[in-house]
Amino acid sequence: MKDILNELEARRRAARLGGGHRRVLAQHSKGKLTARERIELLLDEGSFEEFDMFVRHRCADFGMEKERPAGDGVVTGWGTVNGRQVYVFSQDFTVFGGSLSETHAEKICKIMDMAMLNGAPVIGINDSGGARIQEGVASLAGYAEVFQRNVLASGVVPQISLIMGPCAGGAVYSPAMTDFIFMVRDTSYMFVTGPDVVKTVTNEVVTAEQLGGARTHSAKSSVADGAFEDDLEALMEVRRLIDFLPLSNREKPPVRPFHDDPARVEPSLDTLVPDNPNQPYDMKELILKVADEGDFYEIQEDFARNIVTGFIRLEGSTVGVVANQPMVLAGCLDIDSARKGARFVRFCDAFEIPILTLVDVPGFLPGTAQEYGGIIKHGAKLLFAYGEATVPKVTLITRKAYGGAYVVMASKHLRGDFNYAWPTSEIAVMGSRGAVEILHRTELGDPDRIAQRTRDYEDRFANPFVAAERGFIDEVIMPHSTRRRVCRAFASLRNKRLANPWKKHDNIPL
Ligand code: HXC
Repeated sequence: MKDILNELEARRRAARLGGGHRRVLAQHSKGKLTARERIELLLDEGSFEEFDMFVRHRCADFGMEKERPAGDGVVTGWGTVNGRQVYVFSQDFTVFGGSLSETHAEKICKIMDMAMLNGAPVIGINDSGGARIQEGVASLAGYAEVFQRNVLASGVVPQISLIMGPCAGGAVYSPAMTDFIFMVRDTSYMFVTGPDVVKTVTNEVVTAEQLGGARTHSAKSSVADGAFEDDLEALMEVRRLIDFLPLSNREKPPVRPFHDDPARVEPSLDTLVPDNPNQPYDMKELILKVADEGDFYEIQEDFARNIVTGFIRLEGSTVGVVANQPMVLAGCLDIDSARKGARFVRFCDAFEIPILTLVDVPGFLPGTAQEYGGIIKHGAKLLFAYGEATVPKVTLITRKAYGGAYVVMASKHLRGDFNYAWPTSEIAVMGSRGAVEILHRTELGDPDRIAQRTRDYEDRFANPFVAAERGFIDEVIMPHSTRRRVCRAFASLRNKRLANPWKKHDNIPL
């Protein structure tokens, strides 16, 4: 009996060694942790339960039958993050460069199936040279099996991808279909074709970092939702994110203990909006002052900064925040901000996370670049996302809400549940200057007359009361009492039930 136990231990030790000391050292020398070290940091101490530690590949080509390490380049299983269950796979770059074989894919598929069955998130740690070259099409089939599961799991359980090494070619499409992608600066990259192919085909000279590094994808392409300094920071931030999310679409988001008075008054908010309507202010200040303990988990912080998206808690419950940011491009909606906002709103709706929308929007960004780039379709994504969302929606207009952008930003007309406005709001078809120039074109040569016309327009429309008279605004509230009003609104919506008409699925403008 003792021999059998010893053999099990010996087999476990061998499996845990991965590709051996030399390759582990090489991994560390690049500033990267190993697959197992990453899992240890991601999960609660001692909570990891491994599956398929002894799975080996079945390839007999190119001498592969002589090298069959246990585990086959990916560590899989489940564990907990602050006591809540998650499934995880972590590719082991020290074994065949973390490349994906048929059996490696089977291991990933097994935990994805279990995650769906049991209703818990999947966290994938990607560090791989892509398809296992020696296995050819069997490896491609393995990727396809993973992709299919990514699609089926979308909207059922949260899927989170950490990119902690190479992720190239078709391999990028599994993370691309997950809900969030986080990258590590300088040690991870994602691209469909690498720098060498780019040089051959387009003659562009570009480094891997420039082409598909964390900065590129978090600030330019928006493929990544966040970029972190090192493996440790990325793993800790994913733990923080998991705390905001429900485990599946069958559950409500978690309610955490909170120590912040829901009725907390914030007198400084009374002067947040400057007297001059053209002067910007930082919308994040409002988000932080409304949130429990000022805790805000921002998504896509470095991309389309004219819109801010992320998670806060109100009375311990997760709320998704979408906010125009007057500090960047005056907070206007454009292609990038509409796409960013729409994807976030759809994530929240899929996982029953209520949405708080903070509005200060002068309209859509004009110009040929926007029109040629398809702002019509992209802007419609945000409109569509808000219109289809059935979760509790609370909207607060702080200043401008002009034109189509007023409608798009979770207005009453898109089934907003509570539509609040600060007294500083201006809800109109457009700004007063633009309106007067159209309505009184013949008087443009007379500055005094135009100034008078502008004042008249402002008196009539540069306020929330015209909209409030019609019930489009439910209540004009004092800025200092925003947290109390918003908390009470969401509390009153906890039992909201709303369903869209039956359909196979919608046809959102892609
Ligand atoms: C088998 C691989 C491998 C692969 C790396 N290795 N990639 N083994 N299949 N795809 C092995 C190497 O032979 C080496 O083995 C070890 O992993 C580490 O690789 P190095 O090259 O020494 O590491 P590094 O210098 O850090 O370079 C990493 C790399 C490079 C940039 C990822 O290995 C690379 O270019 N690999 C090939 C990438 C590729 O073309 N993959 C196929 C893409 S197509 P030893 O024994 O020396 O440690 C694809 C299609 C997916 O993925 C389609 C889905 C639909």
